[in-house]
Amino acid sequence: MSAATHDRELREIIDGLQQSEKMISPKYFYDERGSQLFDQITTLPEYYQTVTELGIMRANIAELSTLIGPQASLIEYGSGSSLKTRVLLEHLVDLAVYVPVDISEDHLLSSARQIRSEFPGLEVLPVVADFTKQFALPDPTVMPLRNIVYFPGSTIGNFTDDDARELLRVMHHEAGANGAMLIGVDLQKDPAIIERAYNDSAGVTAEFNLNMLRHLNRAYGADFDLPSWSHEAKYNETEGRIEMRLLNSTLQTVNIGHQTFVINEREGILTEYSHKYTLGGFAAMAEQAGFEVAKVWTDAGQLFSVQYCVRA
Ligand code: TRP
Repeated sequence: MSAATHDRELREIIDGLQQSEKMISPKYFYDERGSQLFDQITTLPEYYQTVTELGIMRANIAELSTLIGPQASLIEYGSGSSLKTRVLLEHLVDLAVYVPVDISEDHLLSSARQIRSEFPGLEVLPVVADFTKQFALPDPTVMPLRNIVYFPGSTIGNFTDDDARELLRVMHHEAGANGAMLIGVDLQKDPAIIERAYNDSAGVTAEFNLNMLRHLNRAYGADFDLPSWSHEAKYNETEGRIEMRLLNSTLQTVNIGHQTFVINEREGILTEYSHKYTLGGFAAMAEQAGFEVAKVWTDAGQLFSVQYCVRA
């Protein structure tokens, strides 16, 4: 990481800790251990999302493939190493190019190499970019007939509503004139089911959340007293979202980059939201970004949805 990036991130962390409710961006979850823990979360029995989304994709892949049609460019936002992507790569007809977009270069390039070896005829053009900002699409050898923007995992829910709408607008732009978006959207349901998904019995999600402080201590010279902190994930029914926090149990001062913060007993740091949607609520948000929901697939329990959105 360049010194300039490091300084900018340090300022961003400090800025978050200066808010009236302390917060740190979820991007600081992802050091190497954080990425491993995240992969582990998606295999936990309580974490219904991954297996449900994969099941929805598998059950509807023929229809999906017909909707997308031949010679499409598949542009995936976020990690490109998942099983869900493979379902698409295996079944889409005559795909023109696969463009995985991710901010983490190492992870992106190694999974792009893996995909190339599994799908030898497929052109794979990874783009290292922060996908929340507009980025340039690479030039494929074969001119695609349309762009399909793929955003699985209900990652959209990790953004505030304003940021989610903004991101959908970027995707609308990237999809282009006759493009479409395929997106995984987690649904509102019994809060007990949702809370269990973020408070797994093996403690992996807790470990993932706490790893953020370990990361800040190591990479940004902070001195959080790790044993004082614990994981909290609560469903806020009014807002329709999981709110994940780190909770402090003993008054402490924390130093980071020439700043000192006094953190009270029982004070929390907000680390992530995970919004859950109603079908109507998501459709309204998509519409504000210029999309029309053309097709929604769900599982029998209506836990999760995969939605195919076209430009309105
Ligand atoms: N977007 C998914 C979700 O909110 C995956 C995810 C992102 C996640 N950050 C997480 C899961 C933190 C558990 C904990 O569910």
